[in-house]
Amino acid sequence: MIKKLKDFKLEGKRVLVRCDFNVPIDAEGNIRDDFRIIQTLPTIKYLLKEKAKIILMSHLGDPDGPNELLKLDKVQGILAKNLDVPVTKANDCTSYQVEQYAFGLNPGDVFLLENLRFHPEEKDNDLAFAKKLASLAQIYINDAFSVCHRAHASVVSVPLLVKEKGVGLLLEKEIRTLEKASQRPKRPLLAVVGGAKVKTKATLIQKFLETADSVIVSGLIKREMDEMKMPYSDKLLSPVDNIEVDGKIPDIGPKSIELFIRKIKKAGTIIWNGPFGLIEDPQYEKGTAEIAKAIAKSRAFSVIGGGETLEFVSRLGLTRKFNHVSTGGGAMLSFLSGEKLIGLQPLICQR
Ligand code: 3PG
Repeated sequence: MIKKLKDFKLEGKRVLVRCDFNVPIDAEGNIRDDFRIIQTLPTIKYLLKEKAKIILMSHLGDPDGPNELLKLDKVQGILAKNLDVPVTKANDCTSYQVEQYAFGLNPGDVFLLENLRFHPEEKDNDLAFAKKLASLAQIYINDAFSVCHRAHASVVSVPLLVKEKGVGLLLEKEIRTLEKASQRPKRPLLAVVGGAKVKTKATLIQKFLETADSVIVSGLIKREMDEMKMPYSDKLLSPVDNIEVDGKIPDIGPKSIELFIRKIKKAGTIIWNGPFGLIEDPQYEKGTAEIAKAIAKSRAFSVIGGGETLEFVSRLGLTRKFNHVSTGGGAMLSFLSGEKLIGLQPLICQR
């Protein structure tokens, strides 16, 4: 059994919440899309209503250590504005000062730790680091669906060290909706996967090739799959032509667009994550935009997710055209491919 927020007595308790505030940012560190932060507000508002002492933690980007641009100051600003209460931010996650501040919190206070990935111990799933984080909490809540596929300290080890633990409202909603979408999906089931993090995705494609009827992947993912010597499957489609500029391939060509749209039109369920070109440059967004428009227009049940994908469809004004917009990218793919999310396992408690 996994406990939900309403199962806890929260008043006056230090509640440590693993959030995913990993939002897209520009070269100056400005937040380009705050969807993931906004989606976490119901949990934080619930904790405020219940008079908990709230400690929030998240990663942003993928730094190997401290990085000026990836500090959580801008996240702090968005939280304070939307919650309409002061949000104090720490300069660290595990220092003596952090501990002192956390232990001095009053009910209704909101305290945000600095970027977890400024500590390499987070990704190394270091036990000593996890113990320091866990020592701050009387209750641990995971509301970071989108990082539940990562075996990182704040996701898998901290909950093992805190007796009282459970899921937040966002994580609960994501699992409920995605479970519904994946049980007996309307066929044909089509997965469309592009974007960065090609290694994680190449591995997941293998799973989708078992469960889906067709899988469309970007050229980069196809190359990674070839390098990993994954077996051939006639369910797999990849670009058949490319736009080439200075030896690079910033977009897919018209024949690929046509081929992909034909598949999209026939699908009963579509799962989409990741762009098919360098969409940050509008002259190379055509391929991804055509895919997005075709999915938005199709009668299929559509589930989309992932930071870049969500930012892009929001820019095109299409967000409302999909049946479910998930905060997860890799985590959504992982869950829908039938894998067990590693972050949920340590939350299971005996009745
Ligand atoms: C995501 O953006 O999918 C999550 O925040 C996880 O980030 P990661 O892929 O860098 O681990």
